[in-house]
Amino acid sequence: MSFLKEIQRRRTFGIISHPDAGKTTLTEKLLLFGGAIQEAGAVKSNKIKKGATSDFMEIERQRGISVATSVLAFEYNGIKINILDTPGHKDFAEDTFRTLTAVDSVIVVIDVAKGVEEQTEKLVEVCRMRNIPMIVFINKMDREGKDAFDLLDEIEQKLGLKVVPLSFPIGMGYDFKGIYNIWEKNINLFSGDSRRDIEETIEISDLASSQLDKLVGEKAANTLREEIELVSGIYPEFDKDKYLNGKLQPVFFGSALNNFGVRELLDCFVEIAPKPRPKQSEERLVEPKENKFTGFVFKIHANMDPNHRDRLAFIKIVSGKFERNKPYLHVRNNKKMKFSSPNAFFAEKKEIVDVSYPGDIVGLHDTGNFKIGDTLTEGENINYKGVPSFSPEHFRYINNADPLKSKQLFKGIDQLMDEGVAQLFTLELNGRKVIGTVGALQYEVIQYRLEHEYGAKCTYENLNVFKACWVDPKNSKSDEYKEFVRVKQRFLAKDKQNQLVFLADSAFSLQMTQQKYPNIKLHFTSEFD
Ligand code: G4P
Repeated sequence: MSFLKEIQRRRTFGIISHPDAGKTTLTEKLLLFGGAIQEAGAVKSNKIKKGATSDFMEIERQRGISVATSVLAFEYNGIKINILDTPGHKDFAEDTFRTLTAVDSVIVVIDVAKGVEEQTEKLVEVCRMRNIPMIVFINKMDREGKDAFDLLDEIEQKLGLKVVPLSFPIGMGYDFKGIYNIWEKNINLFSGDSRRDIEETIEISDLASSQLDKLVGEKAANTLREEIELVSGIYPEFDKDKYLNGKLQPVFFGSALNNFGVRELLDCFVEIAPKPRPKQSEERLVEPKENKFTGFVFKIHANMDPNHRDRLAFIKIVSGKFERNKPYLHVRNNKKMKFSSPNAFFAEKKEIVDVSYPGDIVGLHDTGNFKIGDTLTEGENINYKGVPSFSPEHFRYINNADPLKSKQLFKGIDQLMDEGVAQLFTLELNGRKVIGTVGALQYEVIQYRLEHEYGAKCTYENLNVFKACWVDPKNSKSDEYKEFVRVKQRFLAKDKQNQLVFLADSAFSLQMTQQKYPNIKLHFTSEFD
């Protein structure tokens, strides 16, 4: 197959949701359609199996949280689909934000009864800011939930989306009869039998037809007619370009657990979802079809084998072909590197591959050369944008609890930060080290991993910080800047990239600082223009 065809048949996306909305179940059903797995339950049991073989994963298993972001690939009707799994738990939100830099589109799963939840709001906001195309899947229609129109309103209001339903439920919960597929103009009746993997659909090109009454009963048929009329009155026509530009979001209804409505979602997805997209680097826009390979690290998966301190760096291929054993430039280190066993991911297994294409993810074994955001190229100096750090929510001093192991501790902290587990800030005043995390859980993960992987012990001490704000160095020569740095020294720190960060201790002090130094720009993420 030609290089261009290989690119065009790839769809790389992430599924985002609040925990428990059904992301794992939906992923699993998508894999079933692709024939990538044979039985339901495979994705989940895989999570537990991993936990049993690795110490670090044991933490994950015990807490029932998916710490790891992995890649699941499968083929469907000639399309190569790469699903990037994103942890739903809020303590690992940053992991998910970074994964979103590697997807070309997303599917947002919403629980029909719970509606829009906190994590969904945060993740969708990130996608919206980046104009990532989104499809919404409203799940658990077999249960009683919110009225479809109310829920669509809620999605528009809370998530700031512009929705277009492409399917519509016929009843819900106990009375759930099926789905009318507006996109394909047919009806799919719900039997509650999850074993059927391809549902039969009945063509209904005219909703006025009496066949509809026979199928779902007169009452439900009339309600559906009214609702579809309302849908076409309220919502705009689906427009693929608007969807691709992040300006319009199609909505599907279904029940992932019952494998219902999933095929409609998948068929529409492969038809409309974007092929690998160009990516902006600091230097220029890079097109997937360019001959030369470029790619960037969006995730580092630690210690598949705790004895070897081996890491797997996940690279998203942006342009060109990635080939095994070919030397590539590690741009930050200005060093050529060759990879003899790049992994590609297929559903639950990974395999060594010779060639990968834009849109694909390869896993490279790493002994500490990579950090998140690193770029690999065939020699050109390209640095990809868009893997920023966000202000952490929690801050603690980290202290060495075993003076004989300080080297190990520093090495451990260094590597864990490169993996993106948390962020390190070094105070300007006294050089003390502060760890910032998105969730409190990471402190335990860090402590555990420092001990088990590096043989180092640490303790934490609370530190009162409200937000970390990256200081824009634009006016660094001005008197105002100099005064700011002098007066606020106690609150200033450097991050790992040596960028200056202001650690505000309260919302009030942040506001006062901004008022007092109006020309000093403070940013909540580490990348700004
Ligand atoms: P997550 O990855 O988003 O966290 O959610 P997950 O798929 O694990 O689903 C959360 C729970 O919701 C699971 O139940 C799952 O079976 C259930 N679920 C998913 N889709 C549907 C659906 O369409 N209808 C109904 N009724 N339930 C659904 P659990 O009891 O927490 O786990 P399990 O023991 O069933 O695996």
